[in-house]
Amino acid sequence: MSNGARLDHDGTPLDQPHPRWHVRVRGLDKSFGANHVLDHVDLDIERGKVNVVIGASGAGKSVLIKHFMVLLRPDRGSVWVDGTDVFALASKPLSSFRRKFGLVFQFSALFDSLTVEENCAFPLKEHTKKSRAEIKDIVNDRLGALGLEGTQRKYPGELSGGMRKRVGLARALVLEPEILIFDEPTTGLDPLATRNVDEMILAAVERYKVTSVVISHDMASVFRIADRIAMIHQHRILAAGTVEEIQASREPYLFEFIRTSGVAAAYGKEAAP
Ligand SMILES: Nc1ncnc2c1ncn2[C@@H]1O[C@H](COP(=O)(O)OP(=O)(O)O)[C@@H](O)[C@H]1O
Ligand SMILES: [Mg+2]
Repeated sequence: MSNGARLDHDGTPLDQPHPRWHVRVRGLDKSFGANHVLDHVDLDIERGKVNVVIGASGAGKSVLIKHFMVLLRPDRGSVWVDGTDVFALASKPLSSFRRKFGLVFQFSALFDSLTVEENCAFPLKEHTKKSRAEIKDIVNDRLGALGLEGTQRKYPGELSGGMRKRVGLARALVLEPEILIFDEPTTGLDPLATRNVDEMILAAVERYKVTSVVISHDMASVFRIADRIAMIHQHRILAAGTVEEIQASREPYLFEFIRTSGVAAAYGKEAAP
């Protein structure tokens, strides 16, 4: 890896936007005390696609993704987002850089005392100078795109878990992020609600052309939504590639991980109804 020269292994400069790779992780090392979590991790996130990161619980998926928006800093290595060396950003450019990202939390983290509309308007009031009418239009657009029309005046407590997740995504979309991050969006949901959240992710990607990074250990869901899959195992990326490449892999741990999930590897995104 030619980190120092800022040239990637394919000869393209890391410090300029790459046509295909939106985020490039190179040689990332991260330990917490004696707990070595990431060991020289390389990962490419494809622009405008659904990139899924899989791996056992505690493998380091969340830790890896937190480096993208500098919620964590590595011991060594770099993350390039559109040619920006993210760990080199000073605090002021860093806060505007972070607005490229939309985070959809595991538990949708809505304000219970605000209506759906107020929840979604919140980031716009906080970060923009848009008028009330403009804000209303944007919020209605996002709610409509996610099948949430008519919920404007409801409170989060009146909605189902799946719908609250949709509201969380609608709120993440109001600031027009370039990269959406979902950390285990379907954990704790029943199969129907999981499918619902999968469809919501696909709808958002289709409509807003965002790059998505989804952490998941639900293989049925992974095969429904993924364009690319990367697996973390024993501190490293064990395998990464298109869904077809991952399904064809005979890497023993990966093969076993998919096999024991009980999901027939035959059904990919295109074949899904
Ligand atoms: N802020 C932190 N401080 C110390 N240890 C952490 C911190 N965040 C994560 N870890 C540890 O790093 C390892 C990977 O965690 P994580 O990335 O959350 O796993 P997962 O793959 O389930 O998302 C775990 O052993 C976890 O305890
Ligand atoms: Mg996690």
